[in-house]
Amino acid sequence: MKINGQPYRTIWPDPDDNSRILIIDQRQLPHNFIIEPLINLNDAVVAIRDMHVRGAGLIGATAGFGMHLAAVQALPGKVDEALKEGADRLDKSRPTARNLKWAVERILQAAKDGKDDDDKKNIVFATACAIADEDATFCKALGDHGVQIIANLSKAKGGETVNILTHCNAGWLAFVDHGSATAPIYAARDAGIKVHVWVDETRPWNQGARLTAWELQQEKIPCTLITDNAGGHLMQQNMVDVVLVGTDRTTHTGDVANKIGTYLKALAAHDNNVPFYVALPSSTFDWELDHGCDIPIEERSGDEITTISGLTENGTIESIQLTAPGTRALNYSFDVTPARLISGLITERGIVAAEKEAIHRLFPDKIMPGQQGVKKAMATGDKRHFIRLDSLHLLDYLVIDREGRQTIYSMGRTLDVSENGLKLETTQPIAIDDTLLITVGLEEELIDLTGEVKHCEKASGRYATGIEFSDISDEGKRIFKIYTEAFRKHFS
Ligand code: MRU
Repeated sequence: MKINGQPYRTIWPDPDDNSRILIIDQRQLPHNFIIEPLINLNDAVVAIRDMHVRGAGLIGATAGFGMHLAAVQALPGKVDEALKEGADRLDKSRPTARNLKWAVERILQAAKDGKDDDDKKNIVFATACAIADEDATFCKALGDHGVQIIANLSKAKGGETVNILTHCNAGWLAFVDHGSATAPIYAARDAGIKVHVWVDETRPWNQGARLTAWELQQEKIPCTLITDNAGGHLMQQNMVDVVLVGTDRTTHTGDVANKIGTYLKALAAHDNNVPFYVALPSSTFDWELDHGCDIPIEERSGDEITTISGLTENGTIESIQLTAPGTRALNYSFDVTPARLISGLITERGIVAAEKEAIHRLFPDKIMPGQQGVKKAMATGDKRHFIRLDSLHLLDYLVIDREGRQTIYSMGRTLDVSENGLKLETTQPIAIDDTLLITVGLEEELIDLTGEVKHCEKASGRYATGIEFSDISDEGKRIFKIYTEAFRKHFS
């Protein structure tokens, strides 16, 4: 994409010396445009950890080139060792973006075919370049598919401007080129569709204010910066036609981890019937994780909240203190939006429902052997998740109402257990006498239980739903007992 009219990628090998990898130092944007060289593995690790580069796709591409730098600097006969050290260090540099581990694993796999040091080094470099090129190509394809969503909205509005809300920076700065959430916007602009973007500032690192607004301006896309808390109000006022965001990791069941605050936007969109789409190249899918709650969520320094940095009158970038000395701050960098709040996932192969079956159908080649058959006990309602010992959260539960309609709700929590039933915190009121199907048990030992709702009350904005089980088999009773004991232990 363009900076002052000149096309750039966010990372590229120095054309005169490919043992130098060049990046744009994003900490300095939008005030200073500084190209920084990475010359060894440590530079790559620091660039990812300290966010000289950031965003899922770019983190993946930098990890790929970081492995290349590790190989380049390896002592004779030690390329494998250097790659192993590179993998260990890069893996730890940031935890949430799936692309990082995906890129490192792809390089390690490719390097296995190398006959000797030089061959391995060539393979690693070629693979790192392929990862970067593929990221750009896939993001372009996200635009080609996602533009349809904007085109339809534009048509429905008789050609009036389509207002798109985005959070954080899932633009080309977060990838190698084009971006994920922004790719359909660029494609719409190119197709002559009128668009305007509401840009969430995205505290505390201000990726929206500093990066997305700047990148859209460079591309001459009309945009307006808003505070993170404004989105709900704009949706209520009919000022948002669609929400388009990126993701750092998406489970193969459709739960989406993205920059902190995304979940709140999804809730507001759901409440206001605003479509909520997530754009991602397939390198962001986690094919192993079933539940969004298992995605590692990065916690960064509280200093990012208690201070703020910006351009001073002298032209230098400085950080200033916002809070009273000693103010404690908790800084989770991402949150998880459950699949049920997502209208669709825009991928390089097309737009797909945020559901396991649909995702698997679109990416059959990515499914690990045996993965389909893993959850024996969940076959009858595989949206229902078992309760894990370490959280005792019930993620999804299936309600069958008296007309036989089935609805899956997400994010319940067990409040109490007795011999015959459970008291659950649920996200929706459930009518008395409705049937509730859940899967309980721990890890491998799971059982489907059917129960009738005996009471439902509202407390502090949540619902407490009491269900009694019927017809539990002996095996079911045994597993329920194990679960009950774990619950008691957990809360005693
Ligand atoms: O902390 P960051 O800047 O690396 O976070 C990444 C993001 O910008 C967002 O979460 C983005 O929406 C998804 S990354 C394509």
